[in-house]
Amino acid sequence: MQSYIIAALAAFATSVSAADGVKGAAQGFAKGVTGGGNAAPVYPSTTAELKNYLADSSPRVIVLTKTFDFTGTEGTATESGCAPWGTGSACQVAINKDNWCGNYQPKAPKVNKITYDKAGVLGMTVGSNKSLIGQGSKGVIKGKGVRIVSNAKNIIIQNVRFTDINPEYVWGGDAITVDGADLVWIDHVTTDLIARQHIVLGNKASNRVTISNCDINGATGWSATCDGHHYWGIYLTGSNDLVTLQKNYIHHTSGRSPKVGGNTLLHAVNNYFYANSQHAFEADSGAKILAEGNVFQNVKQAQQAGLPGKMFNGASSPASCKQYLGHACARNTYGSSGALTGTDSSIMNGFGGKNVAAAGTAESAKGVQASAGYGKI
Ligand SMILES: *[C@@H]1O[C@H](CO)[C@@H](O)[C@H](O)[C@H]1NC(C)=O
Repeated sequence: MQSYIIAALAAFATSVSAADGVKGAAQGFAKGVTGGGNAAPVYPSTTAELKNYLADSSPRVIVLTKTFDFTGTEGTATESGCAPWGTGSACQVAINKDNWCGNYQPKAPKVNKITYDKAGVLGMTVGSNKSLIGQGSKGVIKGKGVRIVSNAKNIIIQNVRFTDINPEYVWGGDAITVDGADLVWIDHVTTDLIARQHIVLGNKASNRVTISNCDINGATGWSATCDGHHYWGIYLTGSNDLVTLQKNYIHHTSGRSPKVGGNTLLHAVNNYFYANSQHAFEADSGAKILAEGNVFQNVKQAQQAGLPGKMFNGASSPASCKQYLGHACARNTYGSSGALTGTDSSIMNGFGGKNVAAAGTAESAKGVQASAGYGKI
């Protein structure tokens, strides 16, 4: 009898719900990802417990039922830095990480005292076979991101918000880092008020990744372009990466939305790019980008001009897509925006035999504004 009561109390305290599991399935390159699979859900109650569940070697379904606030958990640091983008109050300031100011910005005005939260600088390590999910709209991680590295495999992050990671200071931390991994699905995640990258796939091979239904919110009081739009959006430069970027709402950014390079094949499909004061796609050397079915509204340049990466605007030859994707490419549409200019169809070979996300029309992509981000599934 007593054990029933204890179980009931425990269930009440952590809001256990039979519905606490991953919803839906990844499309595109990370199709087949299972994360923690059928493992019994665990409900961390402290920041330390959350860190342990993410890092240990057991398959886990980790359910967030509240805000995990890491600010203050590792103390603060006060150091000098620099202001390469201007000294106005709307400009981000850089921490002098690894003497970055001295090495790369020797002419930038120095800033004597920057106080930042140390927990933000490095995210929590995530092991293989994990699902990290929020319950309803309760799953919030404040002041720290996550790192999927060291060949971690089979990971799902769904319905979680990452927020308030030293947004005033460049080098104050990223929200989601993937750098040496495989089969990663980032779905219905919201990122806002981040110091550096909202999502970064670093130079190591991250293999198969799907980023879908996310709300990448760059609105900020501190930006490198000093205009309320965050510059450091999505960064994809892995050495052997297949990335599906599907149905995301990417807005109030000013650059790197996304930046693509290394050896990355990117399928950008049905995203809604809104209110970008500089550029969305930055196709650097090694980029192979197919963009179809996206909407650009108030985006100054949909594609940054003059870069060497390869881009195929699917709309330039829709029927030719079918043999590689199984569907004709959907057109991209623009409102008060610059257009995609790439017409390099040589990248289409890369899609042969891969799992490819379906494409809705560009008109349907506008709807992602309402459905993207955490708290919507
Ligand atoms: C993850 O799960 C797979 C499949 O069950 C297993 O082979 C692998 O060893 C697991 N990885 C870790 C680090 O536990």
